[in-house]
Amino acid sequence: MGLPALAAQLIARVDREHPADAVLRAALRSELRLSPAAAATLCRLVFGWFRWRGWFETERPASEQVREAAALAGRFHAAPDSFPPEELMQRAVPGWVREHVTITPGLARWLQTEPTLWLRARPGRGTELAAKLGHCEPAGPGAPAEALAYRGSEDLFRRPEFHAGEFEIQDLHSQAVGWICAPRPGETWWDACAGEGGKTLHLSDLMQNRGLIWASDAAAWRLHRLRLRARRAGVFNYRLAAWDGSERLPTRTRFDGVLVDAPCTNLGTWQRNPHARWTTTPGDVEELAALQRRLLEHAARAVKPGGRLIYAACTLTRDETEAVAEAFAQAHPDWEPLELRDPFTGMTGPRGRLWLDPTARPANGLFLAAWRRPGS
Ligand SMILES: C[S@@+](CC[C@H](N)C(=O)[O-])C[C@H]1O[C@@H](n2cnc3c(N)ncnc32)[C@H](O)[C@@H]1O
Repeated sequence: MGLPALAAQLIARVDREHPADAVLRAALRSELRLSPAAAATLCRLVFGWFRWRGWFETERPASEQVREAAALAGRFHAAPDSFPPEELMQRAVPGWVREHVTITPGLARWLQTEPTLWLRARPGRGTELAAKLGHCEPAGPGAPAEALAYRGSEDLFRRPEFHAGEFEIQDLHSQAVGWICAPRPGETWWDACAGEGGKTLHLSDLMQNRGLIWASDAAAWRLHRLRLRARRAGVFNYRLAAWDGSERLPTRTRFDGVLVDAPCTNLGTWQRNPHARWTTTPGDVEELAALQRRLLEHAARAVKPGGRLIYAACTLTRDETEAVAEAFAQAHPDWEPLELRDPFTGMTGPRGRLWLDPTARPANGLFLAAWRRPGS
């Protein structure tokens, strides 16, 4: 079977519970025997179909659509201006999204562009890692040498440096969340929605593995993966706890800093995860905005007087970002909004809020807000 037909088969398996990356990973691991180059092409075909899905109006065989998507992607790469901005804005996302996000020509172009793979080297090892892997470029002004764009075509999960914990794959703006948290060695932090630990590991590196991080999540399987990643990275200053966002907190500890990296519709990752454009619903926006307000409200109780609360959401809808920050600010007028500085431009956001704009650099879109609890 040719790769387009294989891609079409895998595309049919993707739904809300089975995202494209998980379907691909499972198939490549268990049932397909492909060379690394063929596997990379298959991934590009599957992701490409979801990225260009808005262009298919007729009911044609899926494998033909896969080929057509690859042709559209090739044309976009070679001559992006051959696509009128209105066409991109109209087709890149389903219509309901426009009620929640202003789709600009720049945002539509970002959505259709192939994502950049970002690495985070361990502290002080950026230059050394870049030399070992090759095809690495520094992130540029404002970013530390540990942040690297990888332009090569190797499967990095097979590299010995990956298995030795010498780097993590982490989006550039996700890395910026860690820099903005700026935890100090010896402090006590709570990563309340730790997931598989992308931010936990970064916080630990920034704390030089000193102090303590509580890492909690509602999904036990994610925390299990966090444990494996932490072991690989040699990170030990963390403690795992289950927390489903309820009033009952996992600990009585009061923290120097609490990070709520909230579950959201992930619109800020729709360049990287194009399948989610077609499985997310307007109901999700409403539901997740309510969940975020609840998580923030409950997690705030664990911030010690004078400590910091950081809210991050990798989405772009107003209801999940600005509106959640506004609700918290209204309910807690005595909490001081913290000045948040864009690490890349040095500009500060208004009222303790900051957008990391995906059209400014090739990374996810992300919103942050932060407050200091009154007292000392
Ligand atoms: C944006 S992701 C976290 C990503 C993670 N911080 C990282 O950097 O890798 C949001 C997380 O919130 C978790 N979550 C969803 N519902 C939750 C709830 N009710 N209480 C706590 N965590 C929840 C999800 O399991 C998911 O891991």
